[in-house]
Amino acid sequence: MKDERVLVVGASSGIGREAAKMFARDGAKVYATARRAERLESLAAELAAEGHPIATGTSDASSHESMVALARDAREKLGGVDVMVYVTGTNTPNRAMARLTREIWNELIEVNLNGAYSLTAELLPAMREARKGHLIYVSSISGKYGDVSGAAYQASKRGMFGLALAIRQEERQHGIRTCVVCPGLVDTELMEKRPVKPDAETLGKALQAEDVAEIIFGVAKLHPRAAVPELEIWPTVI
Ligand SMILES: NC(=O)c1ccc[n+]([C@@H]2O[C@H](COP(=O)([O-])OP(=O)(O)OC[C@H]3O[C@@H](n4cnc5c(N)ncnc54)[C@H](OP(=O)(O)O)[C@@H]3O)[C@@H](O)[C@H]2O)c1
Repeated sequence: MKDERVLVVGASSGIGREAAKMFARDGAKVYATARRAERLESLAAELAAEGHPIATGTSDASSHESMVALARDAREKLGGVDVMVYVTGTNTPNRAMARLTREIWNELIEVNLNGAYSLTAELLPAMREARKGHLIYVSSISGKYGDVSGAAYQASKRGMFGLALAIRQEERQHGIRTCVVCPGLVDTELMEKRPVKPDAETLGKALQAEDVAEIIFGVAKLHPRAAVPELEIWPTVI
C-alpha cells in the first residue's frame, strides 16, 4: 500500500482503528477520522512513534455537511483519496421494534448509511477522473441474515449493499471498485450498545478487530484488475 492515500472513517476504536494501523504500517498515507479527537490523537501518536505519521480530523457521520467537509480535508491533507474505508457504525440497546423510536431509527440510518452515501458522493468525481478508486464499506452479517440486532441496524446495513452494488455497476468501467465486508460477532466497544453484553466466554470466541482489519487490508491490496464485491467473516465456532 506504499503511498496509497487511504481515508478510514470510524478510526477511533475497534475495526477502523486496527485497519488504520495496518495501512499506515504498510506505508500508506492515512487520514483517520471519527468524532472522538482524543482517541484519534492517541492513534496518531502511537503510529508516529513507530515512524508512521498519519493525518487526523474529527467528523460526524450523521451530518451531511461534516461528510462534505471531511472529503475536502482528506483530499487536501492526502493530495487525493485512492481508498475509502467506511467503518463507522452504531447500534442502540433500544433495538427491538417494541422499543425502537423514529428518532433512533433515523439516527442509525444517518450514521450507518447516509454518512456513507454523502461521503461517497463527494469522493466519486475525483475517482472517476483518476480512473481509480476503492470504496470499502463495513456492513454486517446482520445486513444479510435475520437476527436480533434490530430493524434499524439491519436496514442500515442492508442499505450499504444497495449503495455499493449500484456504484459497482455504474462505475466499474471507470476503474472504481466497491466491497461490502460483513463481519459476524467482533469483540469491540459496540458490544456496550447491546441490551445485554455477551458474556466473557462468548466474547472469547468472537472475532477480534484485527481479524476484520486484515480482510479490509487484503481487499485493498488486491491488484486493480481484481474486485471483491462482498465477503463475510465469521467467528469459527459461534
Ligand atoms: N462488533 C461487531 O460485532 C460487529 C459486527 C458486524 C459489523 N460491525 C460493524 O463494524 C463497524 C465498526 O464497529 P466496531 O465493532 O469496530 O465498533 P466500535 O469500536 O464502536 O467502532 C465504531 C466506530 O464508529 C465511529 N462512529 C460512531 N458513530 C459515529 C458518528 N456519528 N460519526 C463518526 N463516527 C462515528 C466511532 O467513533 P466515534 O465514537 O469516536 O465517533 C468508532 O470509531 C461498524 O459499522 C459495525 O456496525 C461490528
